[in-house]
Amino acid sequence: MAKRIFLSPPDMGGNELKYINQAFESNYIAPVGEFIDRFEEALQNYTKSPFALALSSGTSAIHLALRLAGVTRGDKVLVSDFTFIGSVSPILYQGAEPIFIDADSSWQIDPNLIEEAIKNESPKALVVAHLYGQSTKIDKIITLCQKYGITLIEDGAESLGAKYKEKELGTFGRFGILSFNGNKIITTSGGGALLCKDENDYKRAKKLSTQAKEDKLWYEHKELGYNYRMSNILAGIGLGQMEVLDARVTKKREIFSWYKKELDGVDEVEFMPEIPDSFGTRWLTTLSVGSNNPLEIIDALSQENIESRPLWKPMHLQPLFDSAKFYGSGVGENLFKSGLCLPSGTKLEKEDIKRVSDIVKRCLN
Ligand SMILES: Cc1ncc(COP(=O)(O)O)c(C=O)c1O
Repeated sequence: MAKRIFLSPPDMGGNELKYINQAFESNYIAPVGEFIDRFEEALQNYTKSPFALALSSGTSAIHLALRLAGVTRGDKVLVSDFTFIGSVSPILYQGAEPIFIDADSSWQIDPNLIEEAIKNESPKALVVAHLYGQSTKIDKIITLCQKYGITLIEDGAESLGAKYKEKELGTFGRFGILSFNGNKIITTSGGGALLCKDENDYKRAKKLSTQAKEDKLWYEHKELGYNYRMSNILAGIGLGQMEVLDARVTKKREIFSWYKKELDGVDEVEFMPEIPDSFGTRWLTTLSVGSNNPLEIIDALSQENIESRPLWKPMHLQPLFDSAKFYGSGVGENLFKSGLCLPSGTKLEKEDIKRVSDIVKRCLN
């Protein structure tokens, strides 16, 4: 069997195990400890976000952001339609109603549809996913949120390392979230973070993430909280990963350039765009193959021991959201039907990309 190629496996930098060992030696095998502080500081320095709170997942970070935005039962929340369920499920945790907004030709949420939906629906918040390491039209989106007084939550689960006009994604809105899930550009095996500007938001999110314990010696609770804090061990992995983040971004972009060289101009192939003034990480190289069937390509790759996958299936097409409101014309649906994510692991070499590309080309001819 040919060498296995995964979609986007973890790639450790070297110091992670050392930090885990140090956490063991100090016996801080807990959701407190030096590595949590150091990991949060590294995130703050990298993103230039005044505050970063390390959490158990990106999904939990979105949940906390919605809680802090005051989203409660019956409220409406606008959210990207073409995304992963993690952007949306916390809206349901709050008993609120998700309203799905289609993508535009950038493959990301359409600001014109956001404005139309804001006027019709009077939502409390907007969750915008920056997909596949690329930027949304965040300048237009932030302008809309300011104009209509809507809380913006940037779902940057896939976009750590990406920027718009030199500013890190996840730092435009009141809240930004990150994910360190196993396939992300850096990983803690599982984990996430909340970015915010306001110290009160940070303090409140921290309290809610640790069971909303009041500041007393005994366990006193006035409100509902969650067990969402990251452990010191996982933060040690995160700290080691932050040391190699820039190198990972460079490699992801290089992998994209290799695919582009191999596949650009091939029958109906179109890569996900990078919008003007933005710097994307190409966390995953994604492409549309037009009227060709991406599932056949995924199957052909799988037969050669190569993992790939379809683009996100839009949320309004998910059985869970049968009766949800949707603003759009099916851009995300067309992408889902025509697109796929190619292996983009940062250990891949040029020959691996050629191996994958040759199979893709064979399918398209
Ligand atoms: C766009 C998007 N939003 C949210 C999440 C949720 O992050 P997590 O898996 O850390 O909960 C993910 C990834 O898993 C994602 O890709």
